[in-house]
Amino acid sequence: MEQKNDFTKEIADRVLVSREEIQQAVARIGAEITKDYEGKELFVIGVLKGGFMFMADLVREINLPLQLDFIAVSSYGSSTKTSGVVRMIKDIDKPLDGKHLLIVEDIIDSGVTLKYLKEMFATRGPLSIKVCTIFDKPSRRKVEMKGDYVGIEIPDEFVIGYGLDYDGKYRNLPDLCVLRRDVYEKE
Ligand code: IMP
Ligand code: MG
Repeated sequence: MEQKNDFTKEIADRVLVSREEIQQAVARIGAEITKDYEGKELFVIGVLKGGFMFMADLVREINLPLQLDFIAVSSYGSSTKTSGVVRMIKDIDKPLDGKHLLIVEDIIDSGVTLKYLKEMFATRGPLSIKVCTIFDKPSRRKVEMKGDYVGIEIPDEFVIGYGLDYDGKYRNLPDLCVLRRDVYEKE
């Protein structure tokens, strides 16, 4: 618990995945991607806002001349349950034909967001589309969705930190922490 920032005591139960474990997973995935995409036109697409921290760490572990951009989607309101409806807030304006797309997400939960994004990008003529996520909650799937590159599987807990938020806050925590139940059960 000494790794936590002081203000997290009121909102976080415990560290679920430490910054060191995250760093190791990022390095492992980056090495795999470097090997798999050698000689290919790689276009990395980060999903905002949750994916921003993983994206920044991951691209520094990919030893290839890649291009990158961000999209922004929203599927959560201010609660801990997904609305099931994905809203596109910021799209990519460059053509994606002839590129190998790698979508970078913070977490796969229900799978709804990534299913929507894969189907949408498939209409733009890319050579391939793969999905990369730092965290995965496989027990929560509502639709079939498997990450091609997966960092760390976690249990069905609502987590914050390393890009993930609760009510727009706590994305800046360096470790992945479990949100205290009494914080969101008040809602
Ligand atoms: P989906 O349910 O797979 O569509 O997940 C959509 C989004 O929900 C993810 O990209 C996250 O931003 C968010 N999300 C899912 N689980 C959590 C969580 O435990 N904490 C914070 N955000 C989450
Ligand atoms: Mg979110």
